[in-house]
Amino acid sequence: MTVSNPPPLANAQAIAERAQDHVGAGRLAASLAALASFGLRHDGGVSRETLTATDLAARRHLIDQARALGCTVGIDDCGNLFFRRPGREDLPPVLTGSHADTQPVGGKYDGAYGVLAGLEVIAALNAAGIETLRPIEVVSWTNEEGSRFGPGAMGSSAFVEPARLAGYRDVADAAGIRFGEALDAALAESHDVTRVPMARPMAACVELHIEQGPVLEGANVPLGVVTGIQAVRWFRVECTGTMAHAGTTPMAVRCDAMAAAVAIAQDLYALAPRHAATPGTPELRLTLGRWSVAPNSVNTIPGHVTFTVDMRCLDDAALDRAEAALRAVCVRHAHAPEAVTVTRFFHREPTHFPEAMLGTIERACARASRNAGRALPVRLTSGAFHDAMYLADHCPTAMIFVPSKGGISHNAAEDTEGADLFLGAQALAYTVAELASR
Ligand code: GLV
Ligand code: MN
Ligand code: MN
Repeated sequence: MTVSNPPPLANAQAIAERAQDHVGAGRLAASLAALASFGLRHDGGVSRETLTATDLAARRHLIDQARALGCTVGIDDCGNLFFRRPGREDLPPVLTGSHADTQPVGGKYDGAYGVLAGLEVIAALNAAGIETLRPIEVVSWTNEEGSRFGPGAMGSSAFVEPARLAGYRDVADAAGIRFGEALDAALAESHDVTRVPMARPMAACVELHIEQGPVLEGANVPLGVVTGIQAVRWFRVECTGTMAHAGTTPMAVRCDAMAAAVAIAQDLYALAPRHAATPGTPELRLTLGRWSVAPNSVNTIPGHVTFTVDMRCLDDAALDRAEAALRAVCVRHAHAPEAVTVTRFFHREPTHFPEAMLGTIERACARASRNAGRALPVRLTSGAFHDAMYLADHCPTAMIFVPSKGGISHNAAEDTEGADLFLGAQALAYTVAELASR
């Protein structure tokens, strides 16, 4: 594929405005509800972890939806799905989209919104009869959440750097199923979809997502221009002790893996308030989210405890210090060398999106907000990681946020006002149409 610089369409802004004005609120709401029916829970949440049978059914639904919009569909070696609307010229496309997998207990919008708003942009362009200069592709990335197979954002990171895929294939879920096996089943199921190469050139990428935090709601602003993403590191801490009888073993002679794990956890939780005592520093966030205990019996002293640590901060140097503290704490509470091990299995420095992309997004958000009589967009950083984090290594990339009610996400109660979802899709349509016209 040749990468050239053709003249932009003279009326790029007029095209963008027309695309924005053809976004359909009812069409978007219906498409969100249809995808949410795959894995819908009684409490209104969605359970659709990556590459499960539910996720495979949802992928088929998306393929059918995209084909009905006139898109061609491609899939790459990591199972990422690409829905393509051709442009006037066969140039590197403008990419939008997000992920359709959820946490074990997730909501209707985390990820799904970005994919379906992307398809709504295509529906709007169709309705407006617009031909863009560049093709537009809507992507649904594989395994963004990382809850079934860690780390997260496997699909987007492998797309950007295909060599990563070999390492991901051996990662097993809690039932011992390898990512590679689950992926091969998904690829086999998509036998009617053309295989497309990884790491293809993209002109730009814009991801629309719910904020998943409280900033926009607190400011009563419907649209946020995301300037970057905070740094993140994931660790596995494994504590080894000796299994023994809970009733007969005197406290003084026990080698209890849980006692070590709890002591480490307490020292870790003390890090965040200590860090916060330095004025002006961005917050350090710590989560000990997944625990496994062996033999997990009421009357056996645990012989093995494993837990995960998720650390985030806008300041990567703060994470260097927190990681050093974690390692020191683990050494302090180990009854013998090797009794406590720490493995870092994911890390990412902060992401900064380029100013040229932010300017385009700001204009798009401002026009949608102004037309709706709402407050103008604000700039903010993302607390969650996103596929855009990796795409930023590949092409000019940025994100748009809409508010989350109560800042709640990774929870069945996750919600966003329909009017805000509509404005986000309008802002996306403007941005994508303008980028695809130059
Ligand atoms: C993505 O879901 C994250 O954990 O930030
Ligand atoms: Mn997400
Ligand atoms: Mn998520």
